[in-house]
Amino acid sequence: MKATIALLPGDGIGPEVVAEAVRVLRAVAEGWHHTFEFSEALIGGCAIDAHGTALPAATLAVCQSADAVLLGAVGGPKWDDPRAAVRPEQGLLGIRKALGLYANLRPVTVTPAMARRSPLRAEIVQGVDLVVVRELTGGIYFGEKTSVYVRADEERATDTCVYTTSEIARVVRRACDLARTRRGVVTSVDKANVLETSRLWRRVTSAIVASEYPDLKLEHILVDACAMHLLRRPTDFDVIVTENMFGDILTDEASMLAGSLGLLPSASLGEGTRGLYEPIHGSAPDIAGQGSANPLATILSAALLLRYSLGLEDEARAVEEAVGVTLAAGIVTADLAEPGAASSTTVVADAVLTALRHLATIAA
Ligand code: IPM
Ligand code: MG
Repeated sequence: MKATIALLPGDGIGPEVVAEAVRVLRAVAEGWHHTFEFSEALIGGCAIDAHGTALPAATLAVCQSADAVLLGAVGGPKWDDPRAAVRPEQGLLGIRKALGLYANLRPVTVTPAMARRSPLRAEIVQGVDLVVVRELTGGIYFGEKTSVYVRADEERATDTCVYTTSEIARVVRRACDLARTRRGVVTSVDKANVLETSRLWRRVTSAIVASEYPDLKLEHILVDACAMHLLRRPTDFDVIVTENMFGDILTDEASMLAGSLGLLPSASLGEGTRGLYEPIHGSAPDIAGQGSANPLATILSAALLLRYSLGLEDEARAVEEAVGVTLAAGIVTADLAEPGAASSTTVVADAVLTALRHLATIAA
C-alpha cells in the first residue's frame, strides 16, 4: 500500500525516538512492499521558537493531508515559564482537538522478560494485558480557565471540568468495541461520589452498555480505588475507560507495571482512520541529546499506527514481536538496564530492526 505519514518530532528526546521509529517504518515498507512517504513539521517548543506558536497552521495542514501522524514529545525548561502566554503543551492539546481525536488507547502488556524488570513484584505484574481508553478532547484540560488577582497578594485560578452525554458516549462505545475483541470486561473509572461530571459519566456508561453491549461485563470503580487496584491486582483489568485527567494520571502509574514509562505507546483516534501516535512519556529534557532515551514506546506507537490507521495487522504484530525479542534478549536502555548494562537508543533500535528483518523474510 501507499501511505503518507506526518512526523512531528517535537522537543527534547522527541526527535531521537521518532528517528528510530522511522527506521522501523522504513524497514516495514521494504520488508512487506509498501510505500511510505514522510512529511515533517514543527510542534511544541521548537514551533514556538520558529513561529511564535506551538501549533503552526502549516503543521496542521501537513497532518490533515496525511494518513497518520507520528509524534515524539513536546516541552522543556526553555518554555516552562508559568507566566508564558504560549506553551508547548498547547500544541499537543491543540492537534488532538483539531483532528477530533477523542479516544486515546494506551495498551499495557507485561511479558516475563519485562516482569523481571518491573519495580513491582514479578508475580503481581506477570501476564498484565490491559488497555486504558482515555477521553482526550474534553474534561478539565479543555474547560474554561481563569486566573485573576482578587487582591494585590491574593490570586484566584479556576479550571472547569465539562462533559456532555455525546462526548462520553462516543469514547465509551470505542472502549466497548475494543473490549469485544478482547476479554469482554470494561472498567469505567470515575469519582462519582464527589463530581457531577463523574455521575453523568457513570449514567451514560451504564445506559450504553445495558442497551448496546449487554454481552460485556461492566464494572464501575472510583479513581482513587483504581489507582490502588492497578498495583494490587493489575491482571484483572481488560479495558479501562475514563475521563481525560484520570486517564493521564493512571497511565503514568500503569507504565510502571511494564517497568518503564519508556515502553508505553498510545494511539489517539477519532471518527476516521487518521490517528495520532505518540509515546506516553514526555520530552525528558534531562537526557535529551545523549542517545540514551528508550525508543521502544515510539516504535510500539508506530506499530499501533500500522494497525489502526493503515490496517496492516501482520506488520504491526511483527514490529511488536521484534520489540519483544529485543526485550527478551536484554537489550535495553538505561531506564530498564542493570547498572553498567545499558544500551544506547540506536543499539536498541538496531536490535529491533534485526529481529524485524528476520520476521519479514519469514513472512515473504
Ligand atoms: C500525556 C501528557 C500530556 C497530557 C501533556 C504533555 C499535555 O502528559 O500525553 O499523557 O497531559 O495529555
Ligand atoms: Mg501524561
